[in-house]
Amino acid sequence: MLCSLRILLIFIEHLLHKECKLYEVIPSTPEQITLLELLEDECEVDVWNNSRKSKEPLDVMVPAVFQNEFEKKLTNLQLCYRIIVPDVQAIVNEEKYKNDKAPSIIEGKISFEKYYRYAEIQEYLTYLSVEYPKLAYLTHYGVSYENRNLSAIHITTGGDEPKPIIFIDAGIHAREWIAPAQALYILHELIENKNNKHMIEKVDWVIVPLANPDGYEYSHKTDRFWRKTRSKVGRSCKGVDPNRNFDFHWREHGASKKLQSPTYCGPCPFSEPETRSLSNLIKSYRTQIKLYISIHSCKQSILYPFGFTRTLPYNGDELHRLAKLVEEAIYKVNGNHYRIGNSPGSSGSSRDWAYGAVGIPLSYTLELPGGGTRGFDLPPDEILGVVKEIFAGIKMFFNYVQLKYCY
Ligand SMILES: *[C@@H]1O[C@H](CO)[C@@H](O)[C@H](O)[C@H]1NC(C)=O
Ligand SMILES: *[C@@H]1O[C@H](CO)[C@@H](O)[C@H](O)[C@H]1NC(C)=O
Ligand SMILES: [Zn+2]
Repeated sequence: MLCSLRILLIFIEHLLHKECKLYEVIPSTPEQITLLELLEDECEVDVWNNSRKSKEPLDVMVPAVFQNEFEKKLTNLQLCYRIIVPDVQAIVNEEKYKNDKAPSIIEGKISFEKYYRYAEIQEYLTYLSVEYPKLAYLTHYGVSYENRNLSAIHITTGGDEPKPIIFIDAGIHAREWIAPAQALYILHELIENKNNKHMIEKVDWVIVPLANPDGYEYSHKTDRFWRKTRSKVGRSCKGVDPNRNFDFHWREHGASKKLQSPTYCGPCPFSEPETRSLSNLIKSYRTQIKLYISIHSCKQSILYPFGFTRTLPYNGDELHRLAKLVEEAIYKVNGNHYRIGNSPGSSGSSRDWAYGAVGIPLSYTLELPGGGTRGFDLPPDEILGVVKEIFAGIKMFFNYVQLKYCY
């Protein structure tokens, strides 16, 4: 019985990516982009890019069953394309092989050469709170659809007055594995590295390393490119894009109404326990949080509001200037440039909600670099390079908050 179940699971896994190809499609007019977006809704193709501009290539993952139809439609629409990864699963397998070989966290000794699983991350968070009780405490701010703990670490050195808070979350999108790794690195540096003591004296931090644990585990166990939550939607679909599910200009632009789409916005705002709980946690600190950062990958950019309009918000200049300072700090580490700007075409994001509905004055999406299949599967031996350069940016964010909000 168990054995046949295993065979069935292997078979399903095999179907999932074995025959997925990655296409590069180059739309030459805005109309062609619209047509491509219609295709995205009709067929089960997955356009990996958030931002869609004509004359710039888009990466589209297409399962075997749709490949003929997809190519035919592209040809009819006179869209240029080429296949850039003929076997996505081969690359996924290589990543998995490397990741499985890397050592786990032993007695709190964390290395940044591996993507850890939910249980390992929970263990590390517990370790931090037990080992450094004067600096950090662990809370569970809710449970996921599949009953996993939604956990946050609060870093505070105490004192009588409430301090400004920097709030960071990661892993809202399941497949963006580098994001939780980045959050763990920030936790490690702030709590375990005495050289960063000054960063926790006048500012408190609340860090959520894994905001969508169900999706994350599913992306480890079954479907490497799973993006959404794992709730049941409709009769046979699963998951809502949590970063289109926040209650601010919900469902307006760049969010799909189709249940099977990777950017499905959900039946209503905050339909997901993961987004609802996260929003309650953020709201509970609404007057203290001065800076909100949501960590994603793989667009290598620093993005500020809004996602529903191209119009810049009231402090757009400040948001841009700070993003530039952060970009320069990151660039100095390894010479990598990050794009800066707003991100039209992503309404219902946590970043826009934190800014527009809660009133947090500084709100960003940090998109880390990609790798592997030109995407989310950055090889584990490249984690450390990324998390270190981003930490230089986090230091710059901190400097700004301290200067502006600490007296
Ligand atoms: C889409 O992503 C690919 C791979 O990361 C990149 O080369 C391309 O420029 C992106 N296109 C747009 C429009 O951002
Ligand atoms: C959630 O946290 C509680 C309290 O720490 C613990 O007893 C429980 O095992 C955790 N559940 C999971 C699924 O990790
Ligand atoms: Zn993302």
